[in-house]
Amino acid sequence: MSVVRIVVIGAGVMGRKHAEYLDASERGELVALCDSDSRAGALAAQFDVPHFFNHVEALDLSAPDAAIVAAPTQLHEEIAMACIRRGIVPLVEKPIAATLDEGRRLVDEANAGDLPVLVGHHRRHHPRVQQLRQLVTGGAIGRLIGVSLLWTVKKPDDYYDVLWRTRPGGGPVLTNIIHEIDTLRYVCGEIIEVYAATSSETRGFEVEDSAAITLKFAGGVVGSIFLSDATPSPWSYELTVFENPAYAHAAGNCAFFFGTKGSLAFPKLELWRFAGNGKQGWHEPLLQENLETDDADPLAAQLAHFCRVVRREETPVVSGEEGLRTLAATLAVLTSGREQIPVRVQPA
Ligand SMILES: NC(=O)c1ccc[n+]([C@@H]2O[C@H](COP(=O)([O-])OP(=O)(O)OC[C@H]3O[C@@H](n4cnc5c(N)ncnc54)[C@H](O)[C@@H]3O)[C@@H](O)[C@H]2O)c1
Repeated sequence: MSVVRIVVIGAGVMGRKHAEYLDASERGELVALCDSDSRAGALAAQFDVPHFFNHVEALDLSAPDAAIVAAPTQLHEEIAMACIRRGIVPLVEKPIAATLDEGRRLVDEANAGDLPVLVGHHRRHHPRVQQLRQLVTGGAIGRLIGVSLLWTVKKPDDYYDVLWRTRPGGGPVLTNIIHEIDTLRYVCGEIIEVYAATSSETRGFEVEDSAAITLKFAGGVVGSIFLSDATPSPWSYELTVFENPAYAHAAGNCAFFFGTKGSLAFPKLELWRFAGNGKQGWHEPLLQENLETDDADPLAAQLAHFCRVVRREETPVVSGEEGLRTLAATLAVLTSGREQIPVRVQPA
């Protein structure tokens, strides 16, 4: 089978990572790097590929089968559209677009051309997240009642030296919690309504630094997320799952799933149920079972999947429609925080 030819557009933090994974891949080949910043020329030289300043030239001159769009979110629609119109399959980094309208246009264009789109919610490719979903949807804890998730971290103070991060849209909800929301949708089903109390008291910027979010899922499941990026705390996906060694490691859990027959802590996959004698109630002892866990690099798995999507061997695990629904729920959190009212999630 021939190797999938891929151009990376946007060679910043995420694009560089994608280029490194491609460089190590047997299924995909990096054919060009595109970045409007001339400093990307040196990076392209390291990978021995041409550097383009403009995505149109990159797409027209490097003849790729596929493109990874890792430019700033505001450019996702324009760049992905250019790919789609040329029949080049895009992997669009998350969020799929800056607004629902932009995302919708992109997805409609892809549907019209019968072209797949993969959105970079890479956590869905993590074996533990997949195990979690299988356990919850497969009935290991009975019928799902609810979920409670913590995303509590301390971002270094100089993280906020970058001005756009201190302004609305640059905060943890759209940057980080979109990952949690996507994972919760994957595991618990569709989010239909949200309410968020947000606070910027700790850091004092315009943008939120903390929030308490309540979630209503279809089918009566309810959930909560507490987040803060200003507290020394080990309870986050980043520190407990530890898929990225750039973060510190903490061996705890960050999310708890509650069902009619048991409960489950993630990512350690600790399952709590009553003993098998049929008796239930808070006087009865609960048994803890530590389930086998599996780890593999989700970015490498995502790239392998992307290559199969480009070959039409698989359909996208995170399609454009899925990316849109995750964006819709995340934007609803921001709207609710701003207006202090419960917000129904728009069908995207
Ligand atoms: N999946 C994840 O976990 C994850 C993590 C971080 C970022 N992201 C997403 O990846 C995207 C990029 O984020 P980042 O942190 O790498 O940003 P970044 O600022 O580090 O990189 C963006 C790059 O795009 C380049 N660029 C700007 N305009 C361009 C244009 N017109 N054409 C080509 N290149 C252009 C910039 O010069 C820069 O090098 C965002 O959408 C972000 O949300 C995803």
